[in-house]
Amino acid sequence: MSTGSVSRHGMWSNRWLFILAAAGSAVGLGNIWKFPYIAGENGGGAFVLIYLVCVAFVGIPIMMAEVLIGREGRQSPINTMRKLTEQHHKSGLWTLIGWAGVVAGFLILSYYVVIAGWALFYVLQMGSGALDGATADSASRLFDEFLSDPWQMIMWQTIFMVMVVYIISKGVIKGLERAIRWFMPLLFVLLCVLLGYAVTSDGWSQGVEFMFRLDFSEVTSESVLIALGQAFFTLSLGMGAIMAYGAYLPSGTSIGSTVTIIALLDTAVAIAAGLAIFPIVFANGLEPSQGPGLMFVTVPLAFGQLPLGVVFGTLFFVLVSFAAITSAISISEPALAYLVEEYNAKRGRVAISLGAISWLLGIGTVLSFNVWADVHIVGQLTYFDFVDYVSQNVMLPLGGMFIALFAAYVLPNTVIGAQLGIKSGAAAVAWKVVCGVIAPAAVLVVFIATLFPDLFNAVIALF
Ligand code: PHE
Repeated sequence: MSTGSVSRHGMWSNRWLFILAAAGSAVGLGNIWKFPYIAGENGGGAFVLIYLVCVAFVGIPIMMAEVLIGREGRQSPINTMRKLTEQHHKSGLWTLIGWAGVVAGFLILSYYVVIAGWALFYVLQMGSGALDGATADSASRLFDEFLSDPWQMIMWQTIFMVMVVYIISKGVIKGLERAIRWFMPLLFVLLCVLLGYAVTSDGWSQGVEFMFRLDFSEVTSESVLIALGQAFFTLSLGMGAIMAYGAYLPSGTSIGSTVTIIALLDTAVAIAAGLAIFPIVFANGLEPSQGPGLMFVTVPLAFGQLPLGVVFGTLFFVLVSFAAITSAISISEPALAYLVEEYNAKRGRVAISLGAISWLLGIGTVLSFNVWADVHIVGQLTYFDFVDYVSQNVMLPLGGMFIALFAAYVLPNTVIGAQLGIKSGAAAVAWKVVCGVIAPAAVLVVFIATLFPDLFNAVIALF
């Protein structure tokens, strides 16, 4: 059985390092930057609840599926799918999952790096004291001015991309493992500081109410799709990142409990970020639905009022940048590992080409906030909105759905049983129901609901 083999790219030293690495991939801009702003745009509490349901019933099973497929194949997602379909005499078309993941990875990385560049810019701004004692007005103005300057943004995008390329060229496992060990706990601590500030602010109860009050009147099929897409994005699912990391997971580690820990950590960070940000929004009379700028305005505002805020605020953006780096690395791993395997290429060379292509794609995102702000690709969507929407809300859920189907029906039961450590018939049935029916059906239903919103709204009206 292949579960005992090792990957040529290296192996995580133990279960906890896999957890840290996968949590490093999962915890990123998706939690701290994106989750609060899309919850804000989609009405708050009801959206948060739908998102949590998506994480539990769709995210966790699909993450288990990715890890088990990756560990069974022990190669990049494309070659893992190729190997497994050949070994079990199944259609080679399943390999397309790997390819689609690589395309999604390029798209996501391209804008991810731009936004991470904003975080770097804020390290400098906070560190220089420019935001000390900032008001809602001055913090918003600084952000708007930054967005209107494409050269400045390209500079920070480039700096961040160079950092990512440098790290991935060195190899993911060493160095990265060591960095994650420090940065993830520190990030937790700083989020707690921000939370503490939020608790004492005037907007606390309003913020909590916004995050947890269940008002379904604002929920549309579109917001359900966005919640589902966010669950995929924040858990790094549907494009092979976790599959690639699963290939380096030692045999014998329990997949179910490991994945649950990762999902819980990720969810805790997202909720903490929301609870830290919304009270500040309300205390300062800002809009919860202000979009991508939310974190970049409220966080400097909060730290600007605190004693030692300059130090903490700077540290906060340093850690957001690190959280983004550990995610960016995992986004590029499927393509990187594939090219290394296929052409026996040096990681360093592959990393540079990969970074260059993604960087170029990212220029479109930079321009979406200024020069191309009025250029709409579809409907009201700018280039950035479009790339973000298609990759997160279409490619990741569809990729995840096929991964779930593959793990439930294409792999032989013996392989699934051995990977998941399933001993009883009941557990095997539970796996088939959750991974083979509930998770893929949820994705399908949400897609159909988005294509036919009237039907969805009629069903909702029944309740
Ligand atoms: N999960 C990361 C975040 O929340 C983003 C990511 C998406 C990473 C897809 C890997 C793959 O920021």
